[in-house]
Amino acid sequence: MNAIAIRKHGGPEVLSYEKIPDPVPEKGDVLVKVNYCAVNHLDIWVRNGISGKKVSFPHILGCDISGTLLEGFAGFKKGDKVIVYPAFDGKVPRVSFGIIGGFGKYRGGYSELISVPKKNIIKKPDWFSDQEAAAINVSYLTSWNMLEKSRCKKGDTVLIWGANSGVGSAAILLAKAKGLKVITIASDKNKIKFAKKLGADFVIDRSTQDVISQVLKITNQGGVDAVIDHVGAKTWPVSLEVLKVKGRMIACGTTTGGEAIVNIRAFYSKEAQIIGAYLGSKSQLISLHKFMKLKKIKPAIDGIFELKDAKIAHQKMEQSNQFGKILLHVSN
Ligand SMILES: NC(=O)c1ccc[n+]([C@@H]2O[C@H](COP(=O)([O-])OP(=O)(O)OC[C@H]3O[C@@H](n4cnc5c(N)ncnc54)[C@H](OP(=O)(O)O)[C@@H]3O)[C@@H](O)[C@H]2O)c1
Repeated sequence: MNAIAIRKHGGPEVLSYEKIPDPVPEKGDVLVKVNYCAVNHLDIWVRNGISGKKVSFPHILGCDISGTLLEGFAGFKKGDKVIVYPAFDGKVPRVSFGIIGGFGKYRGGYSELISVPKKNIIKKPDWFSDQEAAAINVSYLTSWNMLEKSRCKKGDTVLIWGANSGVGSAAILLAKAKGLKVITIASDKNKIKFAKKLGADFVIDRSTQDVISQVLKITNQGGVDAVIDHVGAKTWPVSLEVLKVKGRMIACGTTTGGEAIVNIRAFYSKEAQIIGAYLGSKSQLISLHKFMKLKKIKPAIDGIFELKDAKIAHQKMEQSNQFGKILLHVSN
């Protein structure tokens, strides 16, 4: 089968389009023909390599998969269009679950065929096209989980970093559909335009404006009920600073680094909370599908690249030139 394999860690140049042997399903697994696979920042972390985390080479990236079942089982038949819930059981608690195409034994969706646990298969909801179905299993699920953990109610105000990102764009769409007031951050004119199109109520341009004073101005000095932070070290201090009393910062990422310096006194004196979020459960993914259908939400898709062009897709994400999800077209 055709695949993008990595044989060592490194930049986009290590993504190699080649023929590799078809996977052989183990007991409890099923073969899926991958139609589309979204690119996630996780793919870049795995490609670069993270100290202490090992992958066996050749490694296949890609955890956000829509495809076609190549054999039937239980309530599914051959030819069914499906999506793959990306987390699989590990030896230790849920937060350490492996992710398909990540640091675990299951190869990812940058390949025409994938063998995955049968229990990870979910029927593709008719509301989504094959492309859209590949865009929601990671960024949208994580944002959904983060918004649930934020405990925000209709009318509450949430600050969402990185409007153009997978997680940020998903969070804006979902938060608006939940009736929240959304303040988001962008870094240039086109990203601001995109954020407004997604429905954000206020967009702060971090390249020209001071985020803290702008958020306080918008909230009449009160601060926000919650912050969706996927950016990490550079944004944590600001995220905590702009929370109102008893506000919640929900964190899921370390794009700018994993070690932040924060104002601890300001944090505890307003009895704020920092809450971690890791993907979301399979049942949350199914609830998310229902919610998106009910609210008529389609995922924001930047563009679709052919599998062989995965390098260009990675470069685009690394330069932060994306507006929503970047997809790879893997097979028909
Ligand atoms: N815990 C989980 O389960 C989980 C799930 C999904 C994702 N994640 C993590 O969440 C993060 C986002 O993932 P993604 O796929 O959405 O990434 P992405 O699409 O590549 O987005 C990166 C975003 O980070 C923003 N950013 C970069 N530097 C910044 C800075 N100094 N200040 C403010 N914003 C900055 C960029 O905004 P500009 O374009 O304006 O620079 C861009 O919007 C990644 O770290 C990923 O690993 C975690």
